[in-house]
Amino acid sequence: MRFQVEPRALTSISRTKADRISVLPAPTMPTDTTDLLTVPEPDVIRDWATERGILILAHSYQDGFLQEAAHFVGDSLELARKAAEAQAKAICFCGVHFMAETAKLLCPEAEVFVPDLDAGCSLADSCKAEDLVQYQKHLTQKLGQRPVTIAYVNCSAAVKAACDIICTSGNAREVVESVPAEQPILFVPDRHLGGWLQETLGREMLLWNGACEVHELFSVETLLAMKAEHPQALVLSHPECPKAVRDVSDYVLGTAGMLRLVKEHAGQTFLIGTEANLIYRFEKEAPQNTYLPAPGASCACNLCPYMALNTPEKLWASLHARGPVVEVEEVYVEPARRALQRMLDLN
Ligand code: 13P
Ligand code: SF4
Repeated sequence: MRFQVEPRALTSISRTKADRISVLPAPTMPTDTTDLLTVPEPDVIRDWATERGILILAHSYQDGFLQEAAHFVGDSLELARKAAEAQAKAICFCGVHFMAETAKLLCPEAEVFVPDLDAGCSLADSCKAEDLVQYQKHLTQKLGQRPVTIAYVNCSAAVKAACDIICTSGNAREVVESVPAEQPILFVPDRHLGGWLQETLGREMLLWNGACEVHELFSVETLLAMKAEHPQALVLSHPECPKAVRDVSDYVLGTAGMLRLVKEHAGQTFLIGTEANLIYRFEKEAPQNTYLPAPGASCACNLCPYMALNTPEKLWASLHARGPVVEVEEVYVEPARRALQRMLDLN
């Protein structure tokens, strides 16, 4: 398989891992340290987790190794649904922090842990809960009514708790359309996804000024040059991309929508305007096409640096440690879950 890696020693991460493990409570300490010296093949990891009742979930932006090790790979919406349905006692979430928080909110009985607690999200970081609450107060005064706040799932549990309903890239249009026309909407945190929704639905919204550092940096010039080189190619871009990139795209879709689309084609070349690890999934599930990653503006890099913090070594270590765990502060649990549940009830 293409992702294949030699079994790796843990030397490069041993300091970080040791630091983490030292702050974990005693019962979650790994007991079989010899197991940690080398990382087995992904199917061995998955079986090992299955035997211990651990469900491994991975976002499609994770590298091929982690995708292969997971029991289920999906977009944010599919992973949220999977967590809500899961009867698992434990979930190891290969993705970024807000995704693991979402899993914890929707599967509260499960221990939820991640390979790397530092795997955050620049988009989620662009909206702090206290700033949002202040802005909601300001808007309520200005408009004479509280706007309905829709939060893209890429935000913290504290932000979700301050919102009325959550959406993902897979259901954002339906969520916006579920709000009666006369009610003002505040959309957070992604101004690009919000802008795309405004354009395609013709619905005015107040937009929070956040963005994803990966999608923000796709280069429209390079994309146009690639298009000129591959005139038959179809351009797919994620709605987190800026308008200039979306405007030269044939389709603007979330990751699950892109996967559905490429499966419907054969012998087609696609230029992919989103995180490049998604191409691993495309090549596995729709190998009949050719996929070319669109490069970022300042460098060739179109990989999410936060997703990249999760490595096979950290996955293997976290499965043994059953940590680091992800918890949601009690005060946010009920309101954040309510906003998520409203979204799940819609579809
Ligand atoms: P999807 O909801 O399309 O999986 O995207 C998640 C994400 O983080 C995009 O940057
Ligand atoms: Fe966040 Fe962007 Fe990474 Fe998605 S690609 S997880 S929005 S930083």
